[in-house]
Amino acid sequence: MKRLTLMIPILMILSCQQNTKKTTTENQVMVDDPHSFSKPSIAYVTHLDLDLKVNFEQQQITGKAIWTIDNKAKAKEIIFDDSKLNIEKITLGADEKETTFTFGSETAYLGKALKVAIAPETKLINIYYTTGKDASALQWLNPQQTAGKKRPYLFTQSESIAARSWVPCQDSPGIRFTYNATVKVPADLLALMSAENPQAKNSTGIYQFKQVHPIPSYLLALAVGDIAFKAVDERTGVYAEPSVLEKAAWEFADMGKMVHAAEKLYGPYRWGRYDLVVLPPSFPFGGMENPNLTFITPTILAGDRSLVSIICHELAHSWSGNLVTNATWNDFWLNEGFTNYFERRMDEELYGKNEAEMQEVFAKQALENAVKDMGADSKDTYLKTDYTGRNPDEGTNDIAYEKGFFFLKTIEAAVGREKFDAFLRGYFDGHAFQSLTTEQFLDYLNKNLIKGDKALEDKIDINKWVYGPGIPANVAAVGSARFKAIDGLVANWRKTAAVKGLSKEIVSSNERRYFISQLPANLTAKDMAALDAEFGFTASNNTDIQLTWYELALRHHYTTADARIKAYLLENGRMWHIIPLYKEMMATPEGLKSAREIYKLARPNYHPMTYQAIDKLLK
Ligand code: BES
Ligand code: ZN
Repeated sequence: MKRLTLMIPILMILSCQQNTKKTTTENQVMVDDPHSFSKPSIAYVTHLDLDLKVNFEQQQITGKAIWTIDNKAKAKEIIFDDSKLNIEKITLGADEKETTFTFGSETAYLGKALKVAIAPETKLINIYYTTGKDASALQWLNPQQTAGKKRPYLFTQSESIAARSWVPCQDSPGIRFTYNATVKVPADLLALMSAENPQAKNSTGIYQFKQVHPIPSYLLALAVGDIAFKAVDERTGVYAEPSVLEKAAWEFADMGKMVHAAEKLYGPYRWGRYDLVVLPPSFPFGGMENPNLTFITPTILAGDRSLVSIICHELAHSWSGNLVTNATWNDFWLNEGFTNYFERRMDEELYGKNEAEMQEVFAKQALENAVKDMGADSKDTYLKTDYTGRNPDEGTNDIAYEKGFFFLKTIEAAVGREKFDAFLRGYFDGHAFQSLTTEQFLDYLNKNLIKGDKALEDKIDINKWVYGPGIPANVAAVGSARFKAIDGLVANWRKTAAVKGLSKEIVSSNERRYFISQLPANLTAKDMAALDAEFGFTASNNTDIQLTWYELALRHHYTTADARIKAYLLENGRMWHIIPLYKEMMATPEGLKSAREIYKLARPNYHPMTYQAIDKLLK
């Protein structure tokens, strides 16, 4: 910790300089990560030079990864993570002396260790490889699966532990490195990465990339396709297939304002440009915070900007996650809980208190449901989790996102917003380009905010939140005046069953979503039809409303919605927006049968992450 305090002045100087300055990783404390075979305390990577060729015919990436390493311990071996890669040859140094390598045994979820023999003075390791079949990070799309229908598309999704399936790397969020890359793609396609990016195609199909800030491997990203660019302002812009570009640029017109709002809250945006790439609909997430270039699902193009707060979320990760990173996946709440807190502060800044309050009510519902599903005593509901021996993707749930959010909101309520904001800003500045464990965060919190104040300590009750189950009793209160009004409308509807005019009173996407969530559990077919006639829920193009309404429709066997649900499941690959529907269908034997029928058609369009999860569910 001493070394860390010494580094802070240097970091402060760095942050005042140009924001593309290379940053040191010297002060990083290396910890054991149960989801990586690498042993960074012995030897770790600091820089990557990547040379890739993307082959759509073979659906393979052929690569050379040149790793610069730090081998202070003078080890004879360095360990990388590998999932299904074909390693052809490994050499050492600029003069490429061939070296030997061995593999550890294949382990569920983790792949295997790639152990490379090195000399005490080794600085460079050259790994020649091709990606394997079904690499978990890669989705290869044929032209039919794109908007333009003419050219193929490839994108990666590395978080949590899939980077190892397309780059041999020390695949732990606690290990950071800078990177340069050269990527060769078919001449009529554009390549983009989580780095400084080109804005137009060139005739050679060869693109160069530079990420000057040290990032963990899960933020390595690549997208290749028929992609064009449109600026939003001088610092932000949107990439998409040509036919989607105008619509996307319109939907995300607030991007520039979002970056300003974020900076006002927690300090300068340190990454240079902030752009989005709108992917094809099989992208398995709403968004993914790849540095400089957030990957985003096209399913949030609602045409009315109603779903853009997801951009606030991904942008917020430029501080919470990408700048200050969870050291292991057991500390995942440090990424997502902080980001949800940050996102809602941005919502408030940009769209007003009403909007933020509504999001907080949804957050509370989601947290209560997660605790109910997982069991009120489950250790998986601690903020500090233990997914050793399990896939860390199992931990990507509303404990990390919403219990994490409520822990921070509870601290905010205890110390006041002004003090908490100053603390958070200092936290981001003081740990820029570092990875932290929960314990390191708590240590920082105790030293810089609680400072031995016993009354404050009792008020926050850290241990209950971090190492205890469920929702602690001191949880900060949330509430929305708009939603209270809707509670009144629901109560009235229960008495009279009159729907006429309700859609004029319940207008916004959040209000409608809330209204649906408050409807009683025993609706009749007539109720469902009347509500649908009034609001047009079944025909909605807003994925938040679709998800909520379709869950209700399935629960009530409202078959009018079946065709739309089927189309939705065929067109949308966003995992967390389709799995709940498959789960709902599984509740009855007939439902399970139709779930399997739909899934058979939909599976070829889903990302490996998505179909692996649903395969398990419907097996
Ligand atoms: N980093 C996550 C996505 C992720 C999490 C990928 C875990 C792989 C493993 C991203 O920032 C995220 O949270 N996306 C959400 C956005 C929502 C919370 C606004 C999504 O995709 O729904
Ligand atoms: Zn996130």
